[in-house]
Amino acid sequence: MKLNLRSPGKVNLTLKILGRREDGFHELETLMCPLGIHDDVELEPRADGQIDLKVEGAADIPADASNLAWRAAELVQKKAQCSQGVNLVLRKRIPAGGGMAGGSSNAAVVLEGVNRLWGTGLSLAELKELAGQLGSDVAFFLEHGPCVCTGRGEITYPVALEVDAEVLLLNPGFGVPTPWAYQRYAARPGQGEEGRQLWTMVRDGVKTAFRLRNDLEPPVLEKYLWIAQARDWLRSQPGVLDAMMSGSGATVFALVRPGQSEGIAALARAYFGPNCWIQSTRLLLSNQESEWNDQSD
Ligand code: C5P
Repeated sequence: MKLNLRSPGKVNLTLKILGRREDGFHELETLMCPLGIHDDVELEPRADGQIDLKVEGAADIPADASNLAWRAAELVQKKAQCSQGVNLVLRKRIPAGGGMAGGSSNAAVVLEGVNRLWGTGLSLAELKELAGQLGSDVAFFLEHGPCVCTGRGEITYPVALEVDAEVLLLNPGFGVPTPWAYQRYAARPGQGEEGRQLWTMVRDGVKTAFRLRNDLEPPVLEKYLWIAQARDWLRSQPGVLDAMMSGSGATVFALVRPGQSEGIAALARAYFGPNCWIQSTRLLLSNQESEWNDQSD
């Protein structure tokens, strides 16, 4: 059996930094939502216990044991004392280092995928524990829907969102190193600007209003002027309800009135030129989304 799984990107609709922790990480409260845009991950079992990885569609991503997807397969092998191996193929669409967590998403999909492929039977709690070893936002992708995430980002609380908007993504073709963004924040802590619109999330049946906010925006925007320019350009377009940087950047996303994102994408292409990656997509609003990981043959 071969598995072909979707590996979606995410945006942070809110990212509040609550303080610095003793382990050097930052305590977060962040609302993350998976996106319709996705990489594809192919997994094929092999009997010799070896792991092999190919990466298509991105030249700058290592296809070796340093890749989170490879490390995810290794962790399951070790945890479940499994002697099987896997051939992995990552078909990349999500820009690397762009605040959409493509690498973390790939790792989560591999954790789930090899667990299925090898019949290792690890529980969701066990997979989450392995996810936490790989990175702060890997566990989020095991939930298959929007979540409020706390701790380093690895403690996940599923929510449903009531957000009637399409998503437009702009990426300048460079990434912002996440450790650098947090260091810069630590040197000058402060709050990100609150967005201009109220949105609704539902957690355990209780509705709460929120506004877009990203505390990493001010420190990152000070250096990366393009991000501020893209966000402000998006906010000035009729049809854009709100816009913000995702995660540690450099991707900027806009929430757009339904039916209008393609039109604004065309204007953005003319304004920002061919080096800017522009993609219209949608939020995967609840963990009922049937298309998640449904690509297996
Ligand atoms: O866990 P992850 O590999 O995504 O984190 C990358 C870097 O971002 C960490 O090494 C740390 O410098 C910073 N970070 C942080 N606080 C968090 C998450 C990440 O300081 N909650």
